[in-house]
Amino acid sequence: MCVRFTVLTLFPELFPGPLGASLAGRALERGLWALHTVNMRDFGLGAHRAVDDAPFGGGAGMVLRPDVVAAALDSVPGPGRRICLSPRGAPLTQALVQDLAAEPAITLLCGRYEGVDQRALDARACEEISIGDYVLSGGEIAALALMDAVVRLIPGVMGNAQTPAEESFGPEGLLEYPHYTRPGVWEGRAVPGVLLSGNHAAIAAWRAEQALATTRARRPDLLPPQRRG
Ligand code: ADE
Repeated sequence: MCVRFTVLTLFPELFPGPLGASLAGRALERGLWALHTVNMRDFGLGAHRAVDDAPFGGGAGMVLRPDVVAAALDSVPGPGRRICLSPRGAPLTQALVQDLAAEPAITLLCGRYEGVDQRALDARACEEISIGDYVLSGGEIAALALMDAVVRLIPGVMGNAQTPAEESFGPEGLLEYPHYTRPGVWEGRAVPGVLLSGNHAAIAAWRAEQALATTRARRPDLLPPQRRG
């Protein structure tokens, strides 16, 4: 399995950025995933290579032109699934990340300014995805976050690290239990005794209880109503 990402952006220098380091960076070098960038400025119009214009109907900011965006999208060979990063998008969830990790190719369109002309998104069947309920100054950081989440699921990228099923938002949909390592006592704070007991059933029960309590306190929306407590 290898996902080939193509990122359409006005700031290609932002890539691979943090994904060039650590496990993702090593996996990129080893060809476990691939990353190409397309500078949308190359498809800009006129002497100034204009990519944007004022919104019809008035309002603040500028909108990326549909002809420029479509030309950039059409330049990608075998684009695969097309995704526009936008705060208007469907939320990026771990379930969606798992779907994306099974795709052979993904093209990510990074909006800037106020957004992208809707006709380009419709005409080129771009799904819109958001990484959270806040507004970034552009889609690039969202694209990096999406790629990070996907790449770590590609077999061979994470080495011996935990299996995805044990993480937050795994099949049970709970936040993870808290983690502890040495020293056993630090600044007068002791590690919960059960973790030192060697009793695997008791440890599993304690972790399940902690995961449920933390999820109830922080993210009751992740639980079915009867488990919200
Ligand atoms: N672009 C700006 N804000 C964003 C967000 N929250 N998610 C995805 N793309 C964005």
